[in-house]
Amino acid sequence: MLRVPYGQAVHGEEEKKRVVQVLDEHRTIMGKEIREFEERVAKIYNKKFGVMVNSGSSAILLALELLDLPEGSEIITPLLTFATTVGPIVMKKHIPVFADVEEGTYNINVDQIEDLITKKTKALIIPLLLGNASNLIRIRDIAKKHNLYFIEDSCDTLGATYKGKPTGTYSDISITSFYGSHIITAGGGGGILMMNRSDWRDRARVLRGWGRSSSLFSESEDINIRFKGKLGSIPYDAKFIFDEIGYNFLPMEIGAAFGNAQLKRLPSFRKIRERNFADLYSFFKKYEQFFILPKQHPQLRTQWLAFPLTLREKAPFQRLQLAEYLEKANVQTRPIFTGNILKQPGFAHIKHRKMKNDYKITEAVMRRGIVVGCHHGLEKKHINRIKDVFGAFLRKL
Ligand SMILES: Cc1ncc(COP(=O)(O)O)c(C=O)c1O
Repeated sequence: MLRVPYGQAVHGEEEKKRVVQVLDEHRTIMGKEIREFEERVAKIYNKKFGVMVNSGSSAILLALELLDLPEGSEIITPLLTFATTVGPIVMKKHIPVFADVEEGTYNINVDQIEDLITKKTKALIIPLLLGNASNLIRIRDIAKKHNLYFIEDSCDTLGATYKGKPTGTYSDISITSFYGSHIITAGGGGGILMMNRSDWRDRARVLRGWGRSSSLFSESEDINIRFKGKLGSIPYDAKFIFDEIGYNFLPMEIGAAFGNAQLKRLPSFRKIRERNFADLYSFFKKYEQFFILPKQHPQLRTQWLAFPLTLREKAPFQRLQLAEYLEKANVQTRPIFTGNILKQPGFAHIKHRKMKNDYKITEAVMRRGIVVGCHHGLEKKHINRIKDVFGAFLRKL
């Protein structure tokens, strides 16, 4: 039976060749592949600098480190999200303040942001959930008006444009992920944070590399630099001067080599994702009485991570029934990320602030949302299989 995975990495000879070359040349420690990858991805986002790390989750935590906000600062973010979009807010002892999402977009309801702002609000962390986005210009304008930082969590897509400009044009810091199911992978994982400020770039480099200041020397073995270090009155090799309490979020050179080979194929991956999404969209258009279809802002060009559907309240079947039917037919499904993140065990007791009104859309998505694949590993036959299986399920009603 043909298997239709929800997410899948695609690679070929080019990726293998580039990784093997790094191995053959014995240069697995961070070097030119990472530098090239950082530059290329930052350019796609219209940012001056990129700092590659080991995951998108690490990049979000580092972004918050860079902002250096006082404890208890409030950060506005949607309730429907990914765990490590909110996790770092809590880890840094800030307070997540939750907005709902919009129906069918799975992204933040921009109309609710300003009402949530208080004197303590310092930043917006906006996940481009599923690769879709809300009105990024409005978000940028709200951030500017209220003097807030705007962090774009673009982990689910890479290189979307809003009103013809890369999404990173509108943010203070943009983040993406190279996890295995994403449009570009750095060999199964990886992430990057991107910015225009060189002081942020430098600090991110130090923090990702154990907090060592030597992370900033490109020729880090140069003894003229190394032996100028001092700790108090003790001359000390700058290789082992720790300026900050840092992390080891370092990326791998072979991952970046893999990613560099993938970037060449980004235009073709994009086309396939867009084709698959459009194909599924026109199929499900016939079944709008059962499903809320995905909605994309007319100014946005993106490639969706997966194809989301929310069962209508009055649909004559349950999500579980549908999911079981699909999975038994080898069509992989997922719920839509966290649902209401406050209902997740790890987040049930976090300090947070909410609106008085209900989070109707997030709740509906949590109960009745489902995704199937539309990624670049799926051929026409896979998409047809999704349609056939859905068709058979719906005919049986
Ligand atoms: C919206 C969002 N943010 C952050 C992440 C975390 O990225 P990573 O898997 O690279 O840690 C993910 C998942 O991959 C995600 O979907």
